[in-house]
Amino acid sequence: MVFIMKILIIHGQSHEGSTCTAARELAAKVGGEIREFFLPRDFNRSCLGCYTCFKTDLSACPHYKELEPLATAILDSELLILDSPVYVYHAAGPMMSFLDHFGTWWMVHRPMPEMSGKQAVAVSTAAGGGMKSTVRDMADSLEMWGIRKVYKLGFGVQAAKPDEIPDRILRNIHKKTDKLARRIRKNAGGRGCNGRAKKWFYLMRFAHRHFPPMEPDYGYWEKNGWHGNKRPWNS
Ligand SMILES: Cc1cc2nc3c(=O)[nH]c(=O)nc-3n(C[C@H](O)[C@H](O)[C@H](O)COP(=O)(O)O)c2cc1C
Repeated sequence: MVFIMKILIIHGQSHEGSTCTAARELAAKVGGEIREFFLPRDFNRSCLGCYTCFKTDLSACPHYKELEPLATAILDSELLILDSPVYVYHAAGPMMSFLDHFGTWWMVHRPMPEMSGKQAVAVSTAAGGGMKSTVRDMADSLEMWGIRKVYKLGFGVQAAKPDEIPDRILRNIHKKTDKLARRIRKNAGGRGCNGRAKKWFYLMRFAHRHFPPMEPDYGYWEKNGWHGNKRPWNS
């Protein structure tokens, strides 16, 4: 049977270096329709801190016109890959600025039921150190958006460019991307929520019951039945 998955890669850099290559290798091995955006080329705004999204809706964000194609592509994907090179031990600025725009998607604000059918991967490469904190920068959002399964892939490549990567490290990249691609394909098609986001959902549900309601979050939960028996991952 031919296996087609809707794959979206959002690159935290606009060049096609080691990180982009590793992310593309993984996507190709999973197999499917692959769509890509590059930051800052395809979205170059920083959050203004105006709170419009929290007070009203993300669609009222002053940057929504530029953000909308990427937001729609995320919601439409089955596998989302975010990648970034390590820059001073963290994800590149354009990726962080992009993710800042999705605070309302976090489980503690307005959970997105669409996330329950997705898998995601945070990919990073560094010369030698900072892969863990960089994949964590991206995985924090992927997990707190409620994506069902979130994987982390970091490589120390001892290189500034793909053609400088030593063979033994390339072999390790091939091996790890093979293994993760198999896992992603095996886990395709289900619904659910990762444990971290689920825990925060229940903490927030408790807060909604015992503290003064914060709108519009409270009304959104009420409308969706999440103060009752319904849950974002099976509604
Ligand atoms: C501004 C800047 C900061 C960097 N910071 C780190 C770092 O903190 N740790 C590290 O090991 N490599 C660091 N590097 C090296 C890159 O992370 C590494 O070469 C990476 O594989 C480049 O990926 P790319 O080819 O996708 O750009 C830095 C590179 C740049 C340009």
